[in-house]
Formats: sequence, structure tokens, C-alpha cells
Amino acid sequence: MYSWLYDRLNSVHDRLDSVHGTFVIIFVKMIVRGKTALLAMAGVTVAIFTSVFLAVQMLHVTTSDETKQLQLVHVVIRHGARTPVSTYPNDPYINATLFPIGWGQLTNEGKLSLFNIGKFLRERYGSFLGTYYSPDKFYTQSTDTDRTKASMQLVNAGLWPPESVQKWGPIDWQPIPVQSEPLDQDMLLLVRQPCAQYHIERDRIMKSEEVQKLFQEYEPLFREITEITGQNVSDFDDIQDVFSTIQAEESFNLILPEWTKSYYPDKMLRPTILSYVLNAYNDKMNRLKRGTILFFPFILGVLLKKIITDWTDKTNGTLSPTDRQAFLYGGHDSTISNLMRTLKVWDPQLPVYGITVLLELYKDLTTDAYGVEIYLRNNTEVPPYKMTIPGCDSFCPLEKLLELTKNVIPENWEEECKTDDATYAVPDLGRP
Ligand SMILES: *[C@@H]1O[C@H](CO)[C@@H](O)[C@H](O)[C@H]1NC(C)=O
Ligand SMILES: *[C@@H]1O[C@H](CO)[C@@H](O)[C@H](O)[C@H]1NC(C)=O
Ligand SMILES: *[C@@H]1O[C@H](CO)[C@@H](O)[C@H](O)[C@H]1NC(C)=O
Ligand SMILES: *[C@@H]1O[C@H](CO)[C@@H](O)[C@H](O)[C@H]1NC(C)=O
Repeated sequence: MYSWLYDRLNSVHDRLDSVHGTFVIIFVKMIVRGKTALLAMAGVTVAIFTSVFLAVQMLHVTTSDETKQLQLVHVVIRHGARTPVSTYPNDPYINATLFPIGWGQLTNEGKLSLFNIGKFLRERYGSFLGTYYSPDKFYTQSTDTDRTKASMQLVNAGLWPPESVQKWGPIDWQPIPVQSEPLDQDMLLLVRQPCAQYHIERDRIMKSEEVQKLFQEYEPLFREITEITGQNVSDFDDIQDVFSTIQAEESFNLILPEWTKSYYPDKMLRPTILSYVLNAYNDKMNRLKRGTILFFPFILGVLLKKIITDWTDKTNGTLSPTDRQAFLYGGHDSTISNLMRTLKVWDPQLPVYGITVLLELYKDLTTDAYGVEIYLRNNTEVPPYKMTIPGCDSFCPLEKLLELTKNVIPENWEEECKTDDATYAVPDLGRP
């Protein structure tokens, strides 16, 4: 008779961290189980307090679990900790083989943290996704680099351990396919096709008074890092490059050269963070310049466009396959910062290894309206941060979200990227 209540208590229990909460719940479980002798011992006051406490908690569970229902999830993750992808002329490790994995590959620490992200996703979405993996239900795509493809395999290892009918052999793992587009054709997770307008506008931003002031402020640092590293460091991206190399060497447990003590991470951190901001300059900063700078954030909005299309398809019942419940995407630091910046929810920060964006489409069961919640997980010690799109609530109705993001969604990417200047040559982007 009390089993419903007992289940409820367990679910409330799961939500409580405090010792006090645990005591109260255990105590009430005893009551539910009929240990009336204990009830008598504890006295009426505690019982009353408990009822009130419980009523409040149950109300909370009801509102958060039952008035809206999860419909579709997109998870976007940066690859895990890796060995360096690049070096600099005076790098003591310039000739290192980085045995046994080589350059630009996941470290063991990186592998473990990705596996744990998969376990986190199982915990968060297990009841939504169910026990069994199926390719209709769950789709994984990564950029075409070793470290992102390996990362997604690890996340899926944590998320989809085979159960009963899916157990197949001696290890607690099952293969989950990871799709990818060749780097030069990727129009979703890491767009590296030439887009003249993007670079033209970016150059203009770099030359703006506001950004030039930043250049002046950091000029001495650029000069010092150039001297020390033997590498031409002349802008924020160059600092980011050196920063990433040092960070990667550190995460592979290499002993960092002495000079880094006075520069890394402290002095180099802010200009590195700035590089992610300047590469996806937004309206807010533009307004500071009285709208004289035009920037084309929609060029970066390809991933958001795909996600929004999935949302509207899901609400219209036209998402294919119909059973699709989640998309897992693996990309790079810029995949995350560009996505968040097109949504205007990027708080300038270093996009750490394994940084994860959770985009959740819900149906409000009382109104039948659809809405979206967006979370950023940049720290494994605390729950993911719930982000609020400017102009919306943290539960953002889909219709409103479509309105708010209209001007960051490319309609015809190729057309919008073109320039009239036939002589304009798009700079080479190099390898990711
Ligand atoms: C790396 O190799 C080059 C060419 O063999 C050599 O000149 C240089 O001294 C080496 N640098 C380091 C740091 O080992
Ligand atoms: C460093 O790079 C900047 C920008 O690419 C260039 O203008 C400058 O001439 C370069 N300096 C050296 C010493 O190569
Ligand atoms: C699909 O859904 C969106 C938003 O939910 C709506 O604006 C659009 O008109 C719908 N399209 C069709 C074909 O029903
Ligand atoms: C993590 O993200 C949140 C939300 O954007 C931000 O407030 C916080 O500063 C970030 N943490 C770090 C260490 O950057």
C-alpha cells in the first residue's frame, strides 16, 4: 500500500545531500515500514516537522519531474586531455616522440575523464534513453581527428555498457559507431571551408579601436613570449597556441621549462580566453562601437542551425528516424565556444578538455508547449550550469528561441560567405 510513497521517498532521498535530510528520510522510511515504536520514541514534534519537510520535498519532485517531459537531447563535447598538437622552436620537447601515442592524441587521464562523462550521461539520461543502445535512438558524430573520434568511443563506453541481451563477450563494452565527415567537408562541427566574409569581418574587428587597445595592452607580453619561444607571437590566437602546447605537455606529465613559471597559466590565461571571444565576436561587444562594426556570427551558426532543425522536426513529428532521442557530437574548443556564443551564453573562460554542452528539448505537459534548457558542464565537481539565453527564461519556449536566434542562423552559408572582392584570398587555417 505504501510502495508508491516508498519509491517517492527514495527519489527524494537521491536528491538530498545533507546529513540532516538523510536522517529525516531514513526516519520516515521507518515510519512507512511500520516501525511505530520508533515513532513513539521520537515524539510528535519531529513527526510534524517531518511531514512538512516531506510535503515540500515531494512538491518539488512533482514539479520538476512531472510537468515537463524530456523529448530530445543534444550533447556536444570537446575531446579529452591530449598530448600537444603543435610546438614552438625553443620547446625542449620539440623532438619528443611522446611515446607511445605520439602528438595530438588522448592521454590516459583524458581517456578516464571521458569515460566518466559517459557515466555521468548514463546517470542523467539513463531513464530517458533506456538500457539498450540502438542506432535509431542514439547517433554519434565527431570531427575527423583521432582525438575526437577516440573521445566519443570512450564517452559511449561509459554511457552504453551492454546489459543482458546486449552482452556479447568477455568485456563490459559494446561497439557504438562514430560517424564523421572528412575535415575539408565538415559543415557541422568544425567548419574549415573558406568563408571570405568571416575573415573580412574578423580583420575589421581586429582593427577596431576597442580591440586595438587590447593589442596595445598585450603587446609587451606578445614580445616577451616571442623572444622566449622563438615563435612569432603577434596576436591572441598565437598566445592560445603556445598556451595549449604547454597545457598539453603538462597534462602528459612532462616537466615544464623554467620560464613557464612566470607566464603559465596566469599571465597567458586572459589573452588565451580572449582569443575565444574574438573569434566569435558578438552583438554585445559590437554595440560598444555604436554598430559600426558588422560581424557575421551566422557564419558560425551551422551547428546551432542543425540543432534547431532537429528540435522543430521533433515537435512536428518529422525527425528521422522517429525514435531518435539523442545526438552526441564530439568537437574542439572552438566547437563549444562558437556554439555557446551563437546562443549568447558564453561566459569568457577557457574551454577545458571534456567541456560539455547539454541541450535538452522538453514538452510542457500542462500546456503542450515545447521549450529548451541549456547546460554547461565545465567542472565535474559541481552540477552543470544552467544557462539563460538573453531575452528568455532558463526554460526557453521553442518559439521564442527561434525568434531570438533568427539572425545567427545562416540561411545560405555559401552565399553569405562570398565577397565581391575577387582578389581576396582566405587565409590558410592549417590543421586543427
Ligand atoms: C631537435 O632536433 C634538431 C635536429 O636534429 C636539433 O638540432 C635540436 O637541437 C633538437 N632540439 C632539442 C631540444 O632536442
Ligand atoms: C609576425 O607575424 C605578423 C603577423 O602575421 C607579421 O606581420 C610579422 O611580420 C611577423 N614577424 C616576424 C618577425 O616574422
Ligand atoms: C514545425 O514546427 C515549427 C516550430 O515548432 C513550426 O514553426 C513549423 O511551422 C512546423 N512546420 C511544419 C511543417 O509543421
Ligand atoms: C564554468 O561556466 C560557468 C557558466 O558559464 C561560469 O560561470 C564559470 O565561471 C565557469 N568556470 C570556469 C572555471 O571557467
